[in-house]
Amino acid sequence: MSSRTSTTSTNTLITNIASLVTNDPSLGDGSPLGLIQNAAVVIDGDRIAWTGEKSKAPATDNQVDAGGRAVIPGFVDSHSHLVFAGDRTQEFNARMSGRSYTAGGIRTTVAATRAASDEDLERNLVHYLGEALRQGTTTFETKSGYGLTVEDESRALRIAAAHTDEVTYLGAHIVSPDYADDPAGYVALVTGQMLDACVPHARWIDVFCEKGAFDGDQARAILTAGKAKGLHPRVHANQLSYGPGVQLAVELDAASADHCTHLTDADVDALASGNTVATLLPGAEFSTRAEWPDARRLLDAGVTVALSTDCNPGSSFTSSVPFCIALAVRDMRMTPDEAIWSATAGGAAALRRTDIGRITPGAYADLAFLDAPSHVHLAYRPGVPLVSQVWRRGVPVA
Ligand code: NIG
Ligand code: FE
Repeated sequence: MSSRTSTTSTNTLITNIASLVTNDPSLGDGSPLGLIQNAAVVIDGDRIAWTGEKSKAPATDNQVDAGGRAVIPGFVDSHSHLVFAGDRTQEFNARMSGRSYTAGGIRTTVAATRAASDEDLERNLVHYLGEALRQGTTTFETKSGYGLTVEDESRALRIAAAHTDEVTYLGAHIVSPDYADDPAGYVALVTGQMLDACVPHARWIDVFCEKGAFDGDQARAILTAGKAKGLHPRVHANQLSYGPGVQLAVELDAASADHCTHLTDADVDALASGNTVATLLPGAEFSTRAEWPDARRLLDAGVTVALSTDCNPGSSFTSSVPFCIALAVRDMRMTPDEAIWSATAGGAAALRRTDIGRITPGAYADLAFLDAPSHVHLAYRPGVPLVSQVWRRGVPVA
């Protein structure tokens, strides 16, 4: 890629884009991806100023030649757990020898995370963020959930908040081992002193609503307490078994119900009738050898679907959205177009954002350049590092 720069203007034209995913159906081919062939984009500061065919591009002082690459919006990874220490290699090995995944492994990471220094946790977070950025992720959400004390949860969120606005309080990941005999006492802590300590650092509240974690009544109490303090809900729902999580998420107007692997027809109907996005996390099913969520069933019912990594050391140790796209297309019956939309505009919807996940005037200039003529290659060429350059807020960053 070559560039010509001037110091007199902040406007930059990126031209010679073979195919551009805008996610604006009023542009280009009129599909949900709003695909424009032979395209160009004008960036003004940190925002998109113009998008269209390169032959119609306005004059600017700065020009970047995309060299016939495809350009897509930077990925919006709306679900990750990146504040942790250690890894769980042995647990993964055991699973690949036939053991099944349970929420119990979370305790291993809780112990390692509590023992780690702030510096270690931040270094780890920055490491995985760098991986994600190089693979095209320009916005990420991340959670607490491996501290489970007032101090450890609030420090996880403080560390996360230094790197993203999309921070989620997940004190209700599992019942803390310190409260093994008193789950009600732990729920009181999560909805009381721990919530108060965490609210200043978080935008969202989440709960793992699952057998072995929190039941529907506990989840409702936790999410309702968070809402009362100004946090907005999202829910780990229906991952390992059928349960109340998805319908609770819709009832409480959660931005997202995440996992959605075991769904009844009533769950699908609830998602279709509400404003809650179904966030699918195929890295988790891959790494736990579990049944795939049925994206096709959700899409055919009219549900908005997001696709994210769930990056964490237990159930899904990948920071790669392109890998998740390939899995979603191959194993969850999504088309490549649907998977790319879900990993960009879908992720934005799961964070209730309209300023990211699209390449349209006014949106943040977050772009991923692909060493490929089209976005379809992300699914067609799995495992190949196709993301050749990443721009965030109008600046090349990777
Ligand atoms: O989203 N399911 C709950 N939490 C994570 C897994 C956490 C872990 O195993 O450490 C998930 O898959
Ligand atoms: Fe998760």
